Amino acid sequence: MSSTSPKVQVDCGFDDLRPRIEQALEQACEFGSGCPDRLSEAMGYALLAPGKRLRPALVLMAAECCGGSMEDAMPGAVAVEMIHAYSLIHDDLPAMDDDDLRRGRPTVHIQYDQATAILAGDGLLTQAFAHLSHHVTEPSKAISAIQALSVAAGASRLVGGQADDLAAEQDTHVPEPSHRKSAGCQEEILDNRENLDLPRLQHLESIHRRKTGALFSVSLDLGAILVDANDKQRHLLGSYSAAIGLAFQVVDDLLDYTAEATTLGKRTGKDADRGKLTYPSLLGLNEARQKAQELVASARRDAEKFGDAGRRLRLLADFVLERSH
Ligand code: IPE
Ligand code: IPE
Ligand code: MG
Ligand code: MG
Ligand code: MG
Repeated sequence: MSSTSPKVQVDCGFDDLRPRIEQALEQACEFGSGCPDRLSEAMGYALLAPGKRLRPALVLMAAECCGGSMEDAMPGAVAVEMIHAYSLIHDDLPAMDDDDLRRGRPTVHIQYDQATAILAGDGLLTQAFAHLSHHVTEPSKAISAIQALSVAAGASRLVGGQADDLAAEQDTHVPEPSHRKSAGCQEEILDNRENLDLPRLQHLESIHRRKTGALFSVSLDLGAILVDANDKQRHLLGSYSAAIGLAFQVVDDLLDYTAEATTLGKRTGKDADRGKLTYPSLLGLNEARQKAQELVASARRDAEKFGDAGRRLRLLADFVLERSH
């Protein structure tokens, strides 16, 4: 097994939180006596693999900058990483992106087999909600957290974005107007870009906001829900996360063009090979980079409104832009 675990080169703002997140994830890898060993192993293999843990960190950061306790938010951190790990297992399957390397290791269907990978994804997806229901003791908070996470992970957000990502591969058709209308695109992206296929750009933004942005947004929502943040705090976090979630996927698209697999821990050049609809494929590398910079600058401004309490969010915004993995 090749091991190319990526190294953090830029301060992401939460290195000190990483051991707590890892410990909580390890403790969550108890799937019950009816869970077959091979399935349990595959679920642990995916969940505990060396990921960046950005989403759980965002849950904890949101809790902290709203004046709450990170411990209260930890069930949300674990649950969102479970959803993320499941989405990666399925994303890598031959029927989807067909990848063999993830977090510097063989993907789950390569290490085990396809059926085990599908079931390990199913298991983690379900376990995320079980985890919230068991570990968030206040019923109204548990329900709010489960509701928020199920919407973000569901058919109109993460899963819908993934479906449209696949449908857009080598697709020359523009999406239906009704679909574009429901996609929540921002007009600002369309300014000053002549000769551009605007419907396609809107569709791309919608895909990225759903397949990736939704989990970023719900990470901050979960932190806010679990510590009873006020409306003003939630609004600011919502604005921050909308920008950072899209920026993250734009940078992911860029890294697929520019990075090495050994640094990234996953194969590169695959998006172009598969004819994926991405920011670099539509706008070119420079404009895609500029788009990421604008989004991160906007997220930074939101984080600054939290004053000192927003320090980690500011660092994480910079990390999203400067990251090499
Ligand atoms: C990969 O996310 C999937 C995308 C949304 C692009 P990350 O880059 O956060 O993956 P890990 O968790 O660090 O492996
Ligand atoms: C994946 O986007 C988003 C998910 C919901 C998993 P990508 O397909 O670009 O992610 P990578 O590049 O495989 O990590
Ligand atoms: Mg994909
Ligand atoms: Mg992929
Ligand atoms: Mg990618």
